[in-house]
Amino acid sequence: MAYQNLLTENREGILIITINRPDKLNALNGQTLSEIQDVMHDVVKDDSVKAAIITGSGNKAFVAGADISGFQGMDKTSGSNLAKVGQNVLFQIENCPKPIVAAVNGFALGGGCEMAMACHFRLASENAKFGQPEVNLGLIPGYGGTQRLIQLIGKGKAMELMMTADMIGAQEALQLGMVNYVTTSDDLLPKTIELLKKIMSKSPFAISRVIDCVNKYFEPGNDGFRFEYDQFGACCETEDFKEGTSAFLEKRKANFTGK
Ligand code: COA
Repeated sequence: MAYQNLLTENREGILIITINRPDKLNALNGQTLSEIQDVMHDVVKDDSVKAAIITGSGNKAFVAGADISGFQGMDKTSGSNLAKVGQNVLFQIENCPKPIVAAVNGFALGGGCEMAMACHFRLASENAKFGQPEVNLGLIPGYGGTQRLIQLIGKGKAMELMMTADMIGAQEALQLGMVNYVTTSDDLLPKTIELLKKIMSKSPFAISRVIDCVNKYFEPGNDGFRFEYDQFGACCETEDFKEGTSAFLEKRKANFTGK
């Protein structure tokens, strides 16, 4: 599919999705959000895509937030609708059964920080900066930031970042557990691809169950332990399970199909 604000490249099964509005620091306008929705549908249904990376165009920004130029004149109804649409797009990323990793290559602010947090995990280049600066605009995070930042870094620090609007650098994000690795700008995509290749050598069915079980933890009212044992059982019905256990016993590398 051709996109106006996204670049996509399928590199050996890894779809590299680049938000491409560099002159606006890749800010998320309505068109971009709707294209992310479309590309996430493709990631799920396209068998040639095994995993995806989300990154930003240029070396200055991952995504500098929702597009503020569309904010003026927003009222209660249109504001909460905008946030709901953004949240739904990020739920699509979070709940994608294939691994989605953010390669944060610069500013990840507001909706950009929220989008990175919706990915299954994050890597950052040394120049990355994270923040939820919405209070500077008289707003609060609206794409799930108040919820996911607490999950990643705990209540105290999340409160501080959202109340001060301060940005933190890549090293502090690493210390806080927001990102898993910090690399040079040049190493960011190669390191992300290396990690995804390792993940892609495992059972795709089991990986999708890991994603689902982990996400269940954060859904109120769910018994994650029960869900886990059910999913463990579901794995036992798969060809991947037979292949994985046979390969171990036969001392060979498993060849998983995801079935
Ligand atoms: N929405 C719309 N446009 C944005 C944007 C956003 N969130 N963030 C940056 N841009 C635009 C700027 O308006 C500017 O456009 P212009 O050249 O047409 O004037 C361009 O991107 C470059 O940004 P600029 O501010 O000139 O770069 P900088 O290096 O001086 O500052 C930031 C970088 C990220 C610190 C600054 O752009 C910023 O604070 N952006 C807003 C971040 C934010 O509040 N995000 C949360 C939104 S809810």
